[in-house]
Amino acid sequence: MKILILPDERAATQRAADIVARTVRDTPAAVLGLATGGTMLPLYEALAQRHRNDGLSFANITSFNLDEYIGLPPDHPCSYHAYMYDAFFKLVDINPSRTHLPKGDAIDPQAASVDYEALIEAAGGIDLQILGIGRNGHIGFNEPTASLGSRTRIKTLTESTRRANQRYFASFEETPRYAITMGVATILESRKCLLIATGAAKAEAVARMIEGPLSAACPASALQLHTSATIVLDEAAAGDLTLTGYFENVHPEGRDSVFD
Ligand code: PGA
Repeated sequence: MKILILPDERAATQRAADIVARTVRDTPAAVLGLATGGTMLPLYEALAQRHRNDGLSFANITSFNLDEYIGLPPDHPCSYHAYMYDAFFKLVDINPSRTHLPKGDAIDPQAASVDYEALIEAAGGIDLQILGIGRNGHIGFNEPTASLGSRTRIKTLTESTRRANQRYFASFEETPRYAITMGVATILESRKCLLIATGAAKAEAVARMIEGPLSAACPASALQLHTSATIVLDEAAAGDLTLTGYFENVHPEGRDSVFD
């Protein structure tokens, strides 16, 4: 794992945007794995700004989002389809026909999950998977105890995840209970992973992911098995790590090391 610690959220966001922009420039037809959530909003803003100001083009990019709530049609304002359109797709030149999210309103969500895996495979797999982390250590909606060998499927959300996401819905009762999510093994198959975590509320989960045991109790710890996983943190999210001195020695101020 490559651990980059930046002074604050703004710097962490720009560092993560640099990594995504480099992939898009080097491989204009790259397949990106995309994430949702509050942490990603400034990242999408930064990428849209680079599109406007620096001509960063997403015209040939294919994208696959990690997850979608079951029961919400794409035009529901709280769906991740709507989130992606508002936060990113409408702001850049990505071709809508090459953007993919799981079909949360499918009549058969199980079959839709299998189809989603096949679509990722047909696209040649994911070049760079962008990830957030839940306070409980989830990646995608792979909640604690999710199989580390899991593929795209239906997951029941934990109460803590529903509480964290309740702010987007009218009430806790209306916050969806189920989602379709890429599995842990689906995520691990991506050629590169980039996880971004900011804020003190993520510090404990971040420490378990990086320094804790490999365990389904913290699905993000599965990234320890990935040979090209970069974790971009602000100082608050890095606050519970014990090896901070080492990480800062390897990557001072979150810069690449001499061998990168
Ligand atoms: P957040 O969500 O960015 O809204 O904290 C991250 C996640 O749950 O993966």
